[in-house]
Amino acid sequence: MAALTTVDEHDLKELIAAELEAVRRRSLGLTTEALPPGELTAQVSPLMSPLVWDLAHVGNYEELWLLRAAAGAEPMRPEIDHLYNAFEHPRAERPSLPLLPPDEARAYIATVRAKVLDSLAKVPLREDDPLTAGGFVYGMVVQHEHQHDETMLATHQLRKGAPALLDAGEPPPAPGGAAAEPEVLIEAGPFEMGTSDEPWAYDNERPAHIVDLPAYYIDTYPVTNRAYLAFMEAGGYEDPRWWHPEGWRWRSRHNRTAPGFWRREGGQWLRRRFGRIEPVPMDEPVQHVSWYEADAYARWAGKRLPSEAEWEKAARWDPAAQRSRRFPWGDVYEEGRANLGQRRLRPAPVGSYPQGASAYGVQQMLGDVWEWTSSDFTGYPGFRAFPYKEYSQVFFGPEYKVLRGGSWATHPLAVRGTFRNWDFPIRRQIFTGFRCARDAAR
Ligand code: AVJ
Ligand code: FE
Repeated sequence: MAALTTVDEHDLKELIAAELEAVRRRSLGLTTEALPPGELTAQVSPLMSPLVWDLAHVGNYEELWLLRAAAGAEPMRPEIDHLYNAFEHPRAERPSLPLLPPDEARAYIATVRAKVLDSLAKVPLREDDPLTAGGFVYGMVVQHEHQHDETMLATHQLRKGAPALLDAGEPPPAPGGAAAEPEVLIEAGPFEMGTSDEPWAYDNERPAHIVDLPAYYIDTYPVTNRAYLAFMEAGGYEDPRWWHPEGWRWRSRHNRTAPGFWRREGGQWLRRRFGRIEPVPMDEPVQHVSWYEADAYARWAGKRLPSEAEWEKAARWDPAAQRSRRFPWGDVYEEGRANLGQRRLRPAPVGSYPQGASAYGVQQMLGDVWEWTSSDFTGYPGFRAFPYKEYSQVFFGPEYKVLRGGSWATHPLAVRGTFRNWDFPIRRQIFTGFRCARDAAR
C-alpha cells in the first residue's frame, strides 16, 4: 500500500483504482459461493446483517457517493435504495427484507464498480472541493467497504457449523528484543490530538487540537488472556465491587463468566475461532470482551481504562520532536510493524511487534485488538459533520464508548493513530480487547 502523500492526480487515481480492486477481492472472499447454501442470506445473530446485505450495501454506498454525489449520475435502481439504508432498517429486520439474492447482489455491485472506474478517469479531483480533495470521497468508500469486511468477519466468527474461512496462516513475527517494562510513564503536558490534514480522515477525527494531560502510566501491551484469566480465577465476575452498576446488571442478566467464545472443558479453557476449537492462547491479547468487562478488570487490577486522549498521546506524540505522528512508529505505513489487515485470523502474542512501538515505547497500539477507552463518543472542539451527519454525529453522546487502534481484521487504510471507532458498552462480538492506565500522582 502506497503512502497517501501523493499529490499527483494521475498517481492518486491509480492508487484509488488499485485499492477499490483490493477491497473488492476481500469482500468477495468473505461472501464466496463456496460457503454452504443459505449461508449468505441467513442471519447468525440479531446483532448482524445477513452477509448478502453487507455485500449489496457496500455497492449501494459506492453508487451513492461515487456515482451520484461525485459524478452527478442518476440512481441506478431507486427501488432498492431503501433496503440498504442502514437507518431505515435495523440489522435485526434485514433478513426479512426482499434483499437482492447473492448472484444479483454480485452483479449489481460489479456494474456499479465498472461505472465508477469509468467515471474516475473523468471526475477531476478538485482540491477546492472538500469532497474530492486528496481523493477524500473515494477514500471514504474504500474505508467503508473495509469496515464492512471486518463486520462480515465478526459475522463469520458468530456463525455455527463447519469452518468456512481458511486461516490466512501467516505466523506472527518472533517476539523480539528484551522484555519491556509492563507500564510506560507519559509525562504531563500538551499534545496534538486529532488531525486537520490527513486526507482520508473522517469528520470525527477533525480538527487537530491541543490537549493538556496530567502524567499517567499506560500498559506497554494489551491485557493478555493469561492476565484476564487471573481476574476470572480471583472471582472477578462474582464480585460487584469491580463492576460498573450497569455492568453488574449486564453480567448478572446474561450470566457472563468469561470472554465471548470461551468454554471450559476437562479442566481447560478452550475457545472457538471461526469454527475451530483450540486452547485459549495465554500470550495473546484477550478478545471479545465488553467495555463493562474491561472496566471491571481494570478496577480489580488497581487501574482504570485510558481516556482516548491518553491512548492517542501514548500512540502518537513524539516528545523529542514535539509533534504527533500518523502511526505509532512514524508517518509512513510499513508492513510488519503491526498486525493489521487479516494477515492472520487472530491477534499476535504480546511482544510480537517491538518495531511498531510508539515514541514512548508503547507496543501493539495499532492492530491485534480494538482497545476500549473510558471515553464517550463526542465531537472534538470545532467539529463539523462531513460529508453526512449519519456517519458520526448521530452517534455522539454517552451511549457509545470509543475504541482505538484497529484489530488484526482492520485494513491499514481503515485505521490510523487518529481513527475513532465506537460501540455500546455491552458489545463484544467485534474484535475488542483493552489495555489499562493509572494516574501517575497518587
Ligand atoms: C465506525 C464501525 C462504527 O460499522 O457501524 C459502516 C462504520 N458506517 N457503515 C459501523 C460504518 C456506515 C461503523 N463503525
Ligand atoms: Fe455501512
